[in-house]
Amino acid sequence: MSGKIKVGINGYGVIGKRVADAVSLQDDMAVIGVTFNHFDYRIQAAAVKGYPIYYGSNSLKITESAVHISGGLDDLIKKVDVMVDCTARGAAAANKPAYKKAGIKAIFQGGENHELTGVSFVAQVNYAEAINQQFVRVVSCNTTGLCRVMSAFHRHDWVKKARAVLMRRATDPWESHKAGMVNTMVPEMKVPSHQGPDVRSVLKDLNIVTMAGTASHNLGHLHYAMIETTRSLSKVDVCRALREEPRIALVRAQDGIVALNSVIELMRDLGRPRNDLWEVAVWEDGLTVSEDEIYMVFMVHNEAITVPETIDAIRAMTGIESDGRKSIEKTDRALGITKEFLRGIEHQKATSISR
Ligand SMILES: NC(=O)c1ccc[n+]([C@@H]2O[C@H](COP(=O)([O-])OP(=O)(O)OC[C@H]3O[C@@H](n4cnc5c(N)ncnc54)[C@H](OP(=O)(O)O)[C@@H]3O)[C@@H](O)[C@H]2O)c1
Repeated sequence: MSGKIKVGINGYGVIGKRVADAVSLQDDMAVIGVTFNHFDYRIQAAAVKGYPIYYGSNSLKITESAVHISGGLDDLIKKVDVMVDCTARGAAAANKPAYKKAGIKAIFQGGENHELTGVSFVAQVNYAEAINQQFVRVVSCNTTGLCRVMSAFHRHDWVKKARAVLMRRATDPWESHKAGMVNTMVPEMKVPSHQGPDVRSVLKDLNIVTMAGTASHNLGHLHYAMIETTRSLSKVDVCRALREEPRIALVRAQDGIVALNSVIELMRDLGRPRNDLWEVAVWEDGLTVSEDEIYMVFMVHNEAITVPETIDAIRAMTGIESDGRKSIEKTDRALGITKEFLRGIEHQKATSISR
């Protein structure tokens, strides 16, 4: 492939708008256009940012528009190497035949089933599986978070059995005026919740069961995980494994980071776009290692966590980079993804080992 990878984003919602911004920060790919379904402030903001705007379907037409519309979905399909389909859960599958017919590559998001693509993707786990594929699914936010954390232990063969409980956010901030719960929690009755089996579409031999529920907040998901290990480990071993794993950052209640809102406030203070936490935030002082068990709690920012994965999927599928580590490092540099928010990593290594 010569020149930059030409990327289209179909669906400019929570995920699509973030993917567009992340693509535009990479030096080896470019945003060719983004699509809309309803014409409102969201797509107008995309036009202000300079993204070419397309209709999200070929039948959609609006009579008056304050922004220039460059064409329909088919016009965009003709111009891109890769379409990142970020339309709503379940809608994306209907677009696959058009991508197939045009011979372009397409990335689907976690609202779609594994069977749609046959390849479910988390960059640090199975980058190689996506190389030169035409269709790949970047797994959901919760599945991505679980895969990153479990991968830190699984790559050492430490996981005998993992169990996780997920407290999901009720709705996303942009649509909090129209949906969401107040003053309650809703437990899911199905065990396992779908995230455990979904993790196994990536980490195929992991013994994991998840339970889930939804709570009345909109900041992100909170996971509790209990991992029975194959050997006796110390907290130092576990912290080291988490530090060595990409896209996991340790946070501490002793720094005042005591809740989901503190993590998001930290992202605001650090000037992150849209307060985005691309990393999994694991509470170091909430981590307990007892003989052959690890107990841990971490935050998954649903709006942001899959965005770097999508960038790496673009590189793998186009074959522009065959080394997953290199792609991850490149993406992380461009976005500013870190292992430590508040302290130098060397300082952390030293204090953790002497504890
Ligand atoms: N939100 C999350 O926390 C999250 C996290 C990880 C993965 N995901 C996955 O990412 C995907 C997108 O989710 P999202 O949260 O970004 O959804 P979203 O905010 O609702 O955005 C979806 C976008 O697609 C457009 N759209 C909807 N139906 C369409 C159709 N039939 N044709 C063309 N465009 C259509 C929507 O336009 P209108 O709004 O104008 O209809 C909107 O711009 C889903 O698979 C979801 O499961 C979501």
